[in-house]
Amino acid sequence: TNPIPHIFVIMGASGDLAKKKIYPTLWWLFRDGLLPKKTHFIGYARSSLTMKDLRAKTEPHMKHPWGDSPLESQMRPNFQQFCAALEIKEDEKAKAAEFFRLNSYQSGKYDVPGDFQALDQHIRKLQTSSGQANRLFYLALPPSVYHDVTLNLSKHCMSCDQDCWTRVIVEKPFGRDSQSSAELSHHLSSLFTEEQIYRIDHYLGKEMVQNLMVLRFANRMFSRVWNRDNIASVVITFKEPFGTQGRGGYFDQFGIIRDVMQNHLLQILTLVAMEKPISTSPEDIRNEKVKVLRCIPEVKYEDIVLGQYVGSSSAPEGDEARNGYLDDPTVPKGSKTATFVEAVLFIKNERWEGVPFIMRCGKALNERKAEVRIQFHDVPGNIFCPDLVQRNELVIRVQPGEAIYMKLMMKKPGMTFGVEETELDLSYGSRYQGVKMPDAYERLLVDVFTGTQIHFVRSDELAEAWRIFTPILHQIDTEKPDPIPYEYGSRGPPAADELREKHNFHYAGTYKWVPA
Ligand code: BG6
Repeated sequence: TNPIPHIFVIMGASGDLAKKKIYPTLWWLFRDGLLPKKTHFIGYARSSLTMKDLRAKTEPHMKHPWGDSPLESQMRPNFQQFCAALEIKEDEKAKAAEFFRLNSYQSGKYDVPGDFQALDQHIRKLQTSSGQANRLFYLALPPSVYHDVTLNLSKHCMSCDQDCWTRVIVEKPFGRDSQSSAELSHHLSSLFTEEQIYRIDHYLGKEMVQNLMVLRFANRMFSRVWNRDNIASVVITFKEPFGTQGRGGYFDQFGIIRDVMQNHLLQILTLVAMEKPISTSPEDIRNEKVKVLRCIPEVKYEDIVLGQYVGSSSAPEGDEARNGYLDDPTVPKGSKTATFVEAVLFIKNERWEGVPFIMRCGKALNERKAEVRIQFHDVPGNIFCPDLVQRNELVIRVQPGEAIYMKLMMKKPGMTFGVEETELDLSYGSRYQGVKMPDAYERLLVDVFTGTQIHFVRSDELAEAWRIFTPILHQIDTEKPDPIPYEYGSRGPPAADELREKHNFHYAGTYKWVPA
């Protein structure tokens, strides 16, 4: 039988997200044969472009997406060259030509119903003769046009065939606070069913984030110690070694809490802290996620540290690191928007009462890294030299260089009976050599095609995430406290280290993990 075609429509096709992420991801999936047979791609945006223009815009970004794998820059000094070698290769040229043949572009306004009717006509031409096609709409759009676009899509562009489906993929920002997010959710749910809406948080597409559930629930060893009796604190870290890089205009309206913490880091926290779902079905998992979020009280002002980067005077002349956040020309003068934040959250349930969950994230810091660090209590009744015995830690390294390692104390090998810190290390780069780690967007787009919502955010989950952060965001927005300046390339404000120490995270500085 003739397979039902899939029509993937990129709304906002001329924008940054489409160019840098969505088109390249679709190409990699197409090239690797991971899309359903007969998938067509339509770009839609206001600019009048030809397919040739669009191709010229997107092609430079179509290198291989191994950015987050162990092969990344850290391990490969010549990463740039490595990427260049992975641009569309000679033997892929024919495939690329085929990909672009399946692409088309249509310009249209976001608030003109007639333009959406034209889009629908365009889609119909790609359907089967009996009028069948599954439709996917990716909204790579600024929030200002969300309302109109979704309304018009729902009125004019839905599949009418009983055996076909329509799915809508939405990207953050999902509002700015509880109220605006609720309005958006309400609007979307008046137009689409929850099964049709795929809210992307791309951290849910990362290998190690997806691994959290398996690590926790398929290992007896961990499940027994995963609680307040054994765990002293949990630190979830996100660091980037670069600033806003001209994206300051967008960033300044949101700030680091809305950009990274309220979504990516809170999603990780949820997966670390939730109870075991009764099955791996998306609803069972998401029910547990909502349940644990409901146990988290709102973040308090005394439990956060805000920072903003300033240029580093020790950086070489002309170096990007000479510039502070306020030197970014797209950032409003005198802005007090935080580019670094640390926040301590608590979970009021039987498993976690009293255990601080410390989330920290920042731009223009000393390294690129995202990880979860679970620190265990001190050994009770220690009989060894107290200065030498450090706490156990379990580290889930999300990126770069995926790894799971456990920091342990061991007898110092050799004649002595001394103790020393070491680790049990499962570094993916050496353990899973040659395994291709898909980019987060690749996984998530395949999920949308196959219709699984495990790795997407449900509306009640989103509402809880906003509830936790809205009071502090409002307080920051109205009181505009001065963020603590920290130098570009530093570890962030020392006050954040002090806050962690106060909340039962001990850093001895006696040991450094070296990626295998
Ligand atoms: C995005 C944020 O959601 O995530 C960016 O808007 C941030 O500010 C990015 O740089 C980080 O994603 P990744 O996958 O590079 O860690």
